Amino acid sequence: MGELRDALARPLHDLRISVTDRCNFRCVYCMPKEVFGRGYRFLPKDDLLTYEEIARLVGISMRLGVTKVRLTGGEPLTRRGIEDLVAMLARDGLDLALTTNGSLLEEKARALRDAGLTRISVSLDSLDDAVFRRMNDVDFPVERVVRAMDAAYGVGLHPLKVNMVVRRGMNEESIVPMAAFFRERGYVLRFIEYMDVGHTNGWRMDDVVSAKEIVRAVTSAFPAEPAEPNYVGEVAERWRYSDGRGEFGVIASVTQPFCRDCTRARLSADGKLYTCLFATQGTDLQALLRGGASDDEIAGRIADLWSARTDRYSELRGEETARLRKIEMSYIGG
Ligand code: GTP
Ligand code: 5AD
Ligand code: SF4
Ligand code: SF4
Repeated sequence: MGELRDALARPLHDLRISVTDRCNFRCVYCMPKEVFGRGYRFLPKDDLLTYEEIARLVGISMRLGVTKVRLTGGEPLTRRGIEDLVAMLARDGLDLALTTNGSLLEEKARALRDAGLTRISVSLDSLDDAVFRRMNDVDFPVERVVRAMDAAYGVGLHPLKVNMVVRRGMNEESIVPMAAFFRERGYVLRFIEYMDVGHTNGWRMDDVVSAKEIVRAVTSAFPAEPAEPNYVGEVAERWRYSDGRGEFGVIASVTQPFCRDCTRARLSADGKLYTCLFATQGTDLQALLRGGASDDEIAGRIADLWSARTDRYSELRGEETARLRKIEMSYIGG
């Protein structure tokens, strides 16, 4: 059997798995309190895939070409026993990563590493405590996230990546201080252009600080040169500091879309498979899993879905697409 390819000849290499749609932060650009308040209906517990179900789907996906799995949320560390899932998934030949807001990481870093996690990405939007508290909107102090990063790095979760979403009027003043701090620490900072994911964050193009602007700001303070991608389809464009002190990256999903090489599928916590971050509809694998389908049947369903895939949302983005009722980032993960 040849390698599975979608309609635009892209293989399936990555599976990003959301293990919960809940989060203990209320980042203003992701889970605004007016929407994700007391009345918000999160997924009922019975609807969440069990760890056994997730592990089964990962096994099936690996037969179809997946070599990289990233656990996300919501906040994945809020789901009980997440290290047990990591242990169930860890195996040779699988790159197993996790994206977290860092709030519960200090306690969990060692258990995650011991369970077989390969590496970790921590989201952090500012080192300025007041700005960070305003952005996470639950008054969480920045110092605890930095401590958690140090703990993760300390137990050997390398490379450690830091993701900063830049939103105009909120944290662009933090760009250079973040670069200064993390190059000293040896962590790979990536700046993310603010995207129109979901339909609750009131995204406007004017709020996007472009990768070009970000690179200009960083390189004026710390000269850097473009570096080769680590692999085909890497979402971050890499820049290496001229003084040899590591690198930073920019993820320019809005101004320089990278759909052409997109090899990512996404699984929601309730078992729907989405072929794009900006999808409006998913394919229900939970029903197959719980309806007695065989591994071959499930593999066939995923292969059919992938073969027909034409997604390239970021390349088509416009005023109308920005208003679609897209799935939320907190539901599907980064
Ligand atoms: P590694 O290279 O394996 O470290 O992972 P990565 O570069 O894919 O990084 P990560 O998974 O942490 O993704 C970083 C951010 O890039 C996400 O939080 C998203 O904001 C954005 N991103 C990742 N994948 C996609 C994608 O398929 N489409 C779009 N538009 N944005 C993406
Ligand atoms: N645009 C860009 N990145 C976002 N994230 C969440 N919402 C957005 C958005 N609208 C980021 C988080 C985290 C990752 C999981 O996705 O900050 O770094
Ligand atoms: Fe913030 Fe991530 Fe939680 Fe969204 S899922 S509110 S970006 S910490
Ligand atoms: Fe892939 Fe969709 Fe992101 Fe394009 S917009 S890179 S197709 S997930």
